[in-house]
Amino acid sequence: MGKTGFLPPLMFLLIFTIFGTTLSSNSPTITSDQRALLALKSRITHDPHNLLATNWSTSISVCNWIGVTCGSKHHRVTVLDLSSMDLTGTIPSQLGNLSFLILLRICHNSFHGSLPTELTSLHRLEYLSAGNNSFSGEIPSWFGYFPKLRGLSLYMNNFSGVIPSTFGNLSKLKILLLYRNNLKGQIPKFILLDMRQIEYMSSSSSY
Ligand SMILES: *[C@@H]1O[C@H](CO)[C@@H](O)[C@H](O)[C@H]1NC(C)=O
Ligand SMILES: *[C@@H]1O[C@H](CO)[C@@H](O)[C@H](O)[C@H]1NC(C)=O
Ligand SMILES: *[C@@H]1O[C@H](CO)[C@@H](O)[C@H](O)[C@H]1NC(C)=O
Ligand SMILES: *[C@@H]1O[C@H](CO)[C@@H](O)[C@H](O)[C@H]1NC(C)=O
Ligand SMILES: *[C@@H]1O[C@H](CO)[C@@H](O)[C@H](O)[C@H]1NC(C)=O
Repeated sequence: MGKTGFLPPLMFLLIFTIFGTTLSSNSPTITSDQRALLALKSRITHDPHNLLATNWSTSISVCNWIGVTCGSKHHRVTVLDLSSMDLTGTIPSQLGNLSFLILLRICHNSFHGSLPTELTSLHRLEYLSAGNNSFSGEIPSWFGYFPKLRGLSLYMNNFSGVIPSTFGNLSKLKILLLYRNNLKGQIPKFILLDMRQIEYMSSSSSY
């Protein structure tokens, strides 16, 4: 009777290991942040100053990579700032896995293609700055679903179409820079009504 009453220590360790592994592969960690950033690195086709090529190395923590800042509380990537690095490339869907990201700044580069829908997973995002690149396609309607978005800057790209009506959802938005794209029509009235806090919409390119 006593024999079946307890697990041998080795078996206990085995069960714990299997369970532990299952847990860590299901919930995002700094490792999934690393995977997301490596996916981005693999999409860079031109890096003239070899910034990512030499610095984004798996032998050091992503938190020490150039352009990357981690939060002290959760030790996850909170800021990705690759502005003015002369990078050419596209944005991979995996970037949506940076679930603690607050600031994404990729302005003044040569990123092209469209912005992947998976970025909607970035529920904590407050600032997205992608101005002065070569992004194209319609301005995604899912931009309206970032609950915390305070700044959105997409100026000097090749976005086409109209400003999506979902932008009316961005109740926290203070900065919206869309100038020098191929947008049609005017800024819809509901946006002006719903975004009373907006401080300026097109005056500065420094953001
Ligand atoms: C990567 O860049 C950061 C910030 O510039 C620097 O502190 C670090 O030493 C660099 N690491 C490598 C391996 O070049
Ligand atoms: C990351 O993103 C990709 C594509 O969006 C997805 O297939 C994958 O399951 C995500 N999770 C991790 C932990 O990499
Ligand atoms: C746009 O970015 C390029 C670098 O890619 C920079 O040289 C240029 O000054 C930027 N233009 C503006 C108006 O910010
Ligand atoms: C911008 O997009 C339009 C189509 O919407 C295309 O005809 C044009 O060549 C693009 N311009 C640049 C500079 O990519
Ligand atoms: C956002 O706006 C759209 C249309 O303006 C609306 O249908 C939708 O329910 C809104 N979503 C949220 C999360 O507020």
